[in-house]
Amino acid sequence: MLGIIGAMDEEVQLFKEQMSDVEVFSKAGMEFYKGILFGKELVLVRCGIGKVNAALCTQILVDHFSVDKIIFTGVAGGLHPEIEVGDIVISTDCVQHDFDATAFGYRLGEIPRLNKVEFAADQGLIQLAVESAKGIPGFPKIFTGRILSGDVFVADKEKALMLGEKLGGYCVEMEGAAVAQACYLNDIKFVIIRSMSDKADGSAHHDFTTFVEYSANNALKLVKAMLEKI
Ligand code: ADE
Repeated sequence: MLGIIGAMDEEVQLFKEQMSDVEVFSKAGMEFYKGILFGKELVLVRCGIGKVNAALCTQILVDHFSVDKIIFTGVAGGLHPEIEVGDIVISTDCVQHDFDATAFGYRLGEIPRLNKVEFAADQGLIQLAVESAKGIPGFPKIFTGRILSGDVFVADKEKALMLGEKLGGYCVEMEGAAVAQACYLNDIKFVIIRSMSDKADGSAHHDFTTFVEYSANNALKLVKAMLEKI
């Protein structure tokens, strides 16, 4: 079974409207929509914002819906200097940029005792995303790279530069790496698809408000193309 997660209503609404044969299950304050979308049986859910919500949601998808792969769809703040609003990042791997046990000699982002910084996305799902994007006429630029997550809305150019340089992030958001770690712990596949709503700088909160819907729907366009090929 495939799970599709978005953090906010804007990131899943268009898909919800297009599902058929829907059954709705409520758990942990989230509504899980099980049904058919573009001919595929799947579970669609808005997990809420932040890493705790994302991890909880992933575990529920595994435990209650026997999900074996997850596609996360949504918006992010661009960090890579060539990325513009609307462009897409397909995750190669994910890092929690706010996980900081450096006082003990761990690397920034390293989960103590798990000894991991980055959680790798599934190669097959990455390839599927890359190939699917090629088939969408007039689609924005596609990047494949590292996605950073933290319980922080980054709206500061210096911090954005630091995250890009120090952790090699292409974009920053608030859920992907939590989904990634939960998938790693459950041995299931994932990929994160993010379209840029802003550049994580001083105008990020204005840009986010202006572009969230446009960018969220860009990410959904790519996920739709993936579902048609899966
Ligand atoms: N999601 C979209 N833009 C973001 C930003 N600048 N920081 C964190 N999450 C985001």
